Formats: sequence, structure tokens, C-alpha cells
Amino acid sequence: MEKRIIEWNAELSVGNKKLDDEHKGLFDKINDLYFGFKNGKDETIIRSILVFLDRYINEHFNDEEEYMRKNQFPGLITHKRVHQEFMKKYEEFKKRYSSGYSAKKLKEEVKSFLAEWWINHVAMIDHQYADYITPKH
Ligand SMILES: [Fe+2]
Ligand SMILES: [Fe+2]
Repeated sequence: MEKRIIEWNAELSVGNKKLDDEHKGLFDKINDLYFGFKNGKDETIIRSILVFLDRYINEHFNDEEEYMRKNQFPGLITHKRVHQEFMKKYEEFKKRYSSGYSAKKLKEEVKSFLAEWWINHVAMIDHQYADYITPKH
């Protein structure tokens, strides 16, 4: 088994099972994408991972924003903006993929951009609503 590049752990919990499960699912797919590029998996597999990620990221952002809204978290607007900024960067990443960037470069980006962003986002930004909504989680 190759070493994962992104791993969920209990410290990353946001105190809500559904959102935690979504984070785990996203981490799994980001990991799959990394090894997809690394091991030269064929186009169909890479594409299906990206299709899954597209849908899953959108669903997750919606669920999370709804959760913050329902719980009247005062930082909702700022948090939403951070999600939108991610989407912009993610679209640029996908453009580079479509324009035929090398698997090696893309693999590095999965690590330095996708995995990095998600770990930091969950640990620092998502934790702001978690601390507000479920302080003892
Ligand atoms: Fe999140
Ligand atoms: Fe978030």
C-alpha cells in the first residue's frame, strides 16, 4: 500500500457526522486522484474521479453552508467567499488538466494545492463554525 497524501483524523472532526463523512470522502478521492496521476492510470479513470470530485465538492459546500446558516453562524458570508475562491482555483487546475499538462505536474498540484488546501481548510476554517456550533466537539 502506498502512503496516502491526505488523511482524515479525529482532530479534524467538525462535530457533525454528515460533514465529517463528506470530508473523509473528499480526502479519499483526492488521494485516488494523486495515485491516478502517479501510476499513469488511464484517462477514463482520472476523468471519473474528477467528475465525482466536482459533484462532491459542490454538494459539500452547499451542505456546509446550509449547516452554518441553520445554526446562525456569524462567519457564514466570509466562509462562503473562501469556498468560492477555492472553486476558482479548482477550475484553473481542471483547465490545466484539459489543456494536457503532464501527469507529473498535475500529481504535484494535487499535493501542493488540493491536499494542502483541504487539510488547512478543514483544520482552520471549518473549525471556526465547529467551535461556534459545538464548542465541546
Ligand atoms: Fe468542509
Ligand atoms: Fe468549508
